[in-house]
Amino acid sequence: MHITDVTPADLEAVTTLWEEAGLTRPWNPPATDLHRALDGSTSTVLGAFRDGRLVGTVMVGHDGHRGWVYYLAVAVPERGMGLGRRLMQAAEAWLVERGAVKLQLMVRESNTAVTGFYDRLGYADAHVRVVAKRLD
Ligand SMILES: CC(C)(COP(=O)(O)OP(=O)(O)OC[C@H]1O[C@@H](n2cnc3c(N)ncnc32)[C@H](O)[C@@H]1OP(=O)(O)O)[C@@H](O)C(=O)NCCC(=O)NCCS
Repeated sequence: MHITDVTPADLEAVTTLWEEAGLTRPWNPPATDLHRALDGSTSTVLGAFRDGRLVGTVMVGHDGHRGWVYYLAVAVPERGMGLGRRLMQAAEAWLVERGAVKLQLMVRESNTAVTGFYDRLGYADAHVRVVAKRLD
């Protein structure tokens, strides 16, 4: 198992994983999100590969101070064995290397299953209300 940046050649495996993990939404094409993250100088998508097969991802980026994580996903048969934790550690290390001092992420309110996972990794409610508006 090794964790490294995915490339555009991994597009199909990445989007399949994200769809299976329930992370995609019809109004947010995953291919666009992937290419944007790979094209940017302050973002990437890290992939966990077992025998050349993609089994996990995390998208990570920063604004110089805060880092953000999106699309954390572990393939169903690989869950519960520490890979989610390893991917988050890889994202944290990626941010530390670039000088970011804080990592935050958004969890959909409907995704109650994942709350315990972030608790175990030491993440806590930041007591911040996130507001959003679509610009397209
Ligand atoms: C969330 C997810 C990435 C976790 O991956 P994973 O590989 O199963 O997690 P790990 O095995 O690394 O678990 C790390 C720790 O969290 C705990 N944990 C994992 N999932 C948990 C859950 N749903 N509830 C409570 N604890 C959980 C584990 O027991 C483990 O605890 P420990 O090592 O301290 O004993 C995976 O379930 C997933 O892909 N979910 C669907 C996509 C998703 O919701 N992503 C997050 C969007 S915000």
